[in-house]
Amino acid sequence: MEFLKWQCALNPILLSPEETAAAAKAVFSREQAMKQVFDEASRCASCRLGKSRTNLVFGDGNLYADLMFIGEGPGEEEDLQGIPFVGRAGQLLTKIIENGMRIPRSSVYIANIVKCRPPENREPLTDEANACIGYLKRQISVIRPRAIVLLGKTALRYLLGHDKMSIREARAMTFEYEGIPVFVTYHPSALLRNPDYKKPTWEDIQRVMRFLGLPIPSKLS
Ligand code: URA
Ligand code: URA
Repeated sequence: MEFLKWQCALNPILLSPEETAAAAKAVFSREQAMKQVFDEASRCASCRLGKSRTNLVFGDGNLYADLMFIGEGPGEEEDLQGIPFVGRAGQLLTKIIENGMRIPRSSVYIANIVKCRPPENREPLTDEANACIGYLKRQISVIRPRAIVLLGKTALRYLLGHDKMSIREARAMTFEYEGIPVFVTYHPSALLRNPDYKKPTWEDIQRVMRFLGLPIPSKLS
């Protein structure tokens, strides 16, 4: 029955575009759509990381967000709490959002390339990232944000396929994913290791703020 409704909703011959959109919305809210992705990710056994993790770290925030941040993968604290970006790098990202952009963290959506912690905080392996990326792509299609910010090299590599490009090169460019503008900046853990990245990161964030029409504070609090 559910499937039939979907077929009708998605069949452009039977319904006008407006009716199709309304029917799809009525059949499947964002909450329901995201829950389906979450449930599948919870049961996922497509790579080795599911066996060693404590918790799935699926995503955090507003399903109606204008802005989505994408990192690499959960660290120790994220694995324990099941929430992305809550450790040291996460606290810095939260500060960038709340003190820099002056919007609540809960107004954006935050996710990672891989949903399970790689052991010893190593980078995700290619097969792990490729096994997981479909969940992120579905999260993006549920939220359809106005802009995406990729944090660091892993996000750039696996969402956009630019595996040779440095962050320095990529941050000067604007990309698109499925018609959504994509900005690239340094990963907050890179900022913690190298404070020289702070200034360019703030410039990148301001570029995103201008794009979203957010007021730029003259001085950081
Ligand atoms: N680093 C990431 O890339 N993601 C997290 O969730 C935490 C740290
Ligand atoms: N190298 C990375 O992997 N990420 C950064 O953000 C900067 C350098």
